[in-house]
Amino acid sequence: MHICKYFRTFAAVFENMDKPVVILAIESSCDDTSSAVIVDGVLRSNVIASQKVHEEYGGVVPELASRAHQQNILPVVDTALKRAGVTKEEFSAIAFTRGPGLLGSLLVGTSFAKGLALALNIPLIDVNHLQGHVLAHFVEDGTGLKHPNFPFLCLLVSGGNSQIVLVRAYNNMEIIGQTIDDAAGEAFDKCAKVLGLPYPGGPWIDKLAKLGDSTKYPFAKPNIPNYNYSFSGLKTSFLYTLRDMLKAHGVETIDELAERVPNLREDMCASLQATVVDILMRKLKKAAKDLGINQVAVAGGVSANSALRQAFVDYGAKYHWDVFIPPFSFTTDNAAMVCQAGYFKYLDRDFCAIDEVPYAKTTI
Ligand code: KG4
Repeated sequence: MHICKYFRTFAAVFENMDKPVVILAIESSCDDTSSAVIVDGVLRSNVIASQKVHEEYGGVVPELASRAHQQNILPVVDTALKRAGVTKEEFSAIAFTRGPGLLGSLLVGTSFAKGLALALNIPLIDVNHLQGHVLAHFVEDGTGLKHPNFPFLCLLVSGGNSQIVLVRAYNNMEIIGQTIDDAAGEAFDKCAKVLGLPYPGGPWIDKLAKLGDSTKYPFAKPNIPNYNYSFSGLKTSFLYTLRDMLKAHGVETIDELAERVPNLREDMCASLQATVVDILMRKLKKAAKDLGINQVAVAGGVSANSALRQAFVDYGAKYHWDVFIPPFSFTTDNAAMVCQAGYFKYLDRDFCAIDEVPYAKTTI
């Protein structure tokens, strides 16, 4: 950061030291436009506009996502302010998701945050989306959410990531294991697509799995070292199971197969879900045992999965872990977690320059 800008930013902070700390956050990394406000560490609002435009395409279309962010961002921020009962003149800093994510989507939130910070002459705080997911566990939302103690392990599972993160402090995280190919959420979404279910498929798999037999189809499990994951073999195993059944029944479509095989979709979903959960939990258990850590959290979109949430409860009871499962509203992309990460960075006076650019890929 240029030295003059640096001093100006600090001057703005010192002038406002006796005022409440008000952080506005903007999240636009994928297909949810979200804005949140935290006042003195307490969440006041968290507004999310999900984009329905992608449903008919079976996946997020990046160009459509950026356009929808442009349409949504002003009303979303405006609603977040109104719900929080604050005005923009009260902001102490603006936090925004800098990455990882879709570059076009990130650009909308980043540009909006920069414009607002410049106009108000207040600091700008860049937030790593993945760290945001982990720090969702520290949001004070008035519901008495239990926070993990440091160090803790966080299983971070979303559409683009499957990682085990060792969290030593708010600002000290290390990825100790991660997928070497696909993410767990991607495996859910792709397998759901093969079954002819809508996008995103994860919630559909979860729903249908409740009606199925999780032992019906024994899918392949990876055998890779350390705390790393792999889900591409499972996807292939799922696909080949269906392919073989189509051949055996002499039919060409999943709908035709479902007419011949009772409970096909339900049993496939239940078996897939049980396999994914087992793969995730085994490595997490190994990491917790090896590192002697009993504070274990889960985060990211896939943490909404009911079987994974139940597995956390069961493992917690069996292995004497303190488990931390986020409320549903903080599992998928949301600005509350970005705001929380921004609030911690504000307390550390960890600001970014106005010319920082978003990044599509990054690590923690
Ligand atoms: O964290 P997220 O909202 O977006 C990123 O990928 O950053 O995660 C989205 C992923 C999708 O793959 C979606 O299918 C999955 O989370 N997901 C679920 C469930 N709800 C969302 N997967 C399994 N079960 C669910 N209930």
